[in-house]
Amino acid sequence: MMKAKDQIWYGGDYNPDQWEEEIWDVDFDLFQKAHVNILTLPVFSWSRIQKDEDHYDFDWLIKIIEKAKALDIAVCLATSTAVQPAWLSKKHPEILPVDAYGRQRRFGGRVNFCPNSAAYKKAAKELVRRMAIETKAFDNIVMWHIGNEYDNYCYCDTCKTAFQSWVKEKYHTIEEVNRKWYLNFWGHQIYEFDDIEIPDFRSENWEMAGIERTNFQTILLDYKRFMNDSILSCYLNELEVIREITPDIPITTNFMGAFKPLDYFKWAKHLDVISWDHYPGLNEPPYKSALLHDLMRSLKKESPFWLMEQSPSQQNWAPYNTLKRPGELRLQSYQTMARGADAIMYFQMRRSLANCEKFHGALIDHVGNSETRVFKECQEIGQELLGLKEIIGSQVKARVAMVFDWENWWAIEMSSGPSIALNYMEVMTKFYESIYVQQEMIDFINEDDDLSGYDVIYAPLLYMVKDPLFNKIETYVKNGGTLVLTTFSGIVDENDHVTTKGYPGKFREMAGIWVEEIDGLLPEMTNSIEGYKDQSYTCQLLCDIIHEESAEVLGTYGSDFYKGKPVLTRNKWGNGMVYYIGTIPEQALLNDLAEDLIGGKTCTPLVEKSTRYHGETQYDFYINYGDEKVALALDGEWMDLLHQEKITEVLHLKQKDAMIMKKL
Ligand code: GLA
Ligand code: ZN
Repeated sequence: MMKAKDQIWYGGDYNPDQWEEEIWDVDFDLFQKAHVNILTLPVFSWSRIQKDEDHYDFDWLIKIIEKAKALDIAVCLATSTAVQPAWLSKKHPEILPVDAYGRQRRFGGRVNFCPNSAAYKKAAKELVRRMAIETKAFDNIVMWHIGNEYDNYCYCDTCKTAFQSWVKEKYHTIEEVNRKWYLNFWGHQIYEFDDIEIPDFRSENWEMAGIERTNFQTILLDYKRFMNDSILSCYLNELEVIREITPDIPITTNFMGAFKPLDYFKWAKHLDVISWDHYPGLNEPPYKSALLHDLMRSLKKESPFWLMEQSPSQQNWAPYNTLKRPGELRLQSYQTMARGADAIMYFQMRRSLANCEKFHGALIDHVGNSETRVFKECQEIGQELLGLKEIIGSQVKARVAMVFDWENWWAIEMSSGPSIALNYMEVMTKFYESIYVQQEMIDFINEDDDLSGYDVIYAPLLYMVKDPLFNKIETYVKNGGTLVLTTFSGIVDENDHVTTKGYPGKFREMAGIWVEEIDGLLPEMTNSIEGYKDQSYTCQLLCDIIHEESAEVLGTYGSDFYKGKPVLTRNKWGNGMVYYIGTIPEQALLNDLAEDLIGGKTCTPLVEKSTRYHGETQYDFYINYGDEKVALALDGEWMDLLHQEKITEVLHLKQKDAMIMKKL
């Protein structure tokens, strides 16, 4: 069997069912020329494979897998279940989902099925069962790719009944549901499980400035958990049958980075390899991409991830679809590897001729040859990757971590007050950037992780505190760890019920403060943090009014009726230290704090430096996104893997270039 450890996978989505077979031959020649070693297929071919209830045709698929095998090209086998055939939707109209306004969808688009539809699940499982049997003899199939970009929340009556059962299983009695959902509020007590309604725009929800709001956060939170479980069950439905027939082939589905509707930490346990699709825009700051790669890697820290899709040039779905500038794709690809990927893949291998993706970038453009800038850049990357095989399987080790929690994200952004402008990802990104500019690797952590190895843990906006994570954090600080907390933390439990006896709830003693009130500022209002590092920093959005209990005050407010009161504090607790930032500060404050806490290896102009390890062997990836060449001091002796040259003392890195160095 072809082994993942032999190749950095390089290739991507190919839709052979869109092309006449003569084109396959042209394409395979071009694939070889570009050093492509893997194809993902057939992502959207259910209707091509199964034309009615009883007839399946895998011949064309087998033919193309054979063709790939003959040329030593691997296959990432997609199950094709992201779009059910039109005939299936017609036969079982209940497969089509209902949106949050109560409108049933018609056949169209993709991932357009109710996740609780028994008819969908039965048909999908049967398709996949047959596909696995038909293809199991091929040793060039190296990965299963279930579905495609799951995102199908549904609000239909099937889902309503399933939700009622889910709630019953979780809370057992009506009394407990009334308690956990706090249904004494507004007289919403229920008496039977079938009194339970779906929280959508027909019942508890409404929109404010395009953002979903709700009267009952307690219910909506559980509905999101339920939808996450329901959609995950579609993935598991297919996984079950694949495991049975081809137990040795790893299984994945393609994630979408910081995608709010699905709790990927919960999903990750069921994926053998994390894979994800990355579509940065023009001028997207590199730290934003780094954050997403780090988040995806952190879902399964022990194993490298796959970049399942990126565009070789432009997208089609943005309002303005810029080309990737010369060299940009290469730097993005190395950044992805630097942060833990062992596969660099594209959507798509050949541009379709019609419909919405005809202008989406591809290895092979409409002109159909290798004479394009994009093809040549892809070819160069393919060539370079051949020399980097020893990186495969190496791991990232971080000493700084950030808590990331999807349920907390949901809860913060469905909260009525203190501010609609509070955006979890924006705040996370600011903190991330402050660590990134110190040239430190960052892990994202959740309740299943071991926290003991980290020097500093940031937990911005940890509004919802759940016991398993809290207990770990407590032990971590007791044992000498440094923890950074912010405003709007420790406020509620896992059911979004406020923790009494003073904010920040369970963190009150650890942080050595009592937050009496939280001011939600108007968008144009700011305050400032005075005194830290003898400077003044602006802050906005939320301002906690803090009483220091055992904490030391590092900064105070510069204005308003709480001028002079603490805003930045530090408390020694156990053998550790807890910092508390009672507001959303400007970037400079976070950067300065990170420099104090982490050590500050900032480098100007900024060169992104990331490290991967194979045991003791160290690989440093340097990426210079800037327009100036830089010279960096080196410790010891290094091998420049791309040019196979030994380097000591100084690393000369050209503008818009990357170098990968192995420590000798
Ligand atoms: C997603 C999908 C692909 C394709 C690309 C276009 O990532 O998985 O099938 O539609 O978007 O950017
Ligand atoms: Zn449904």
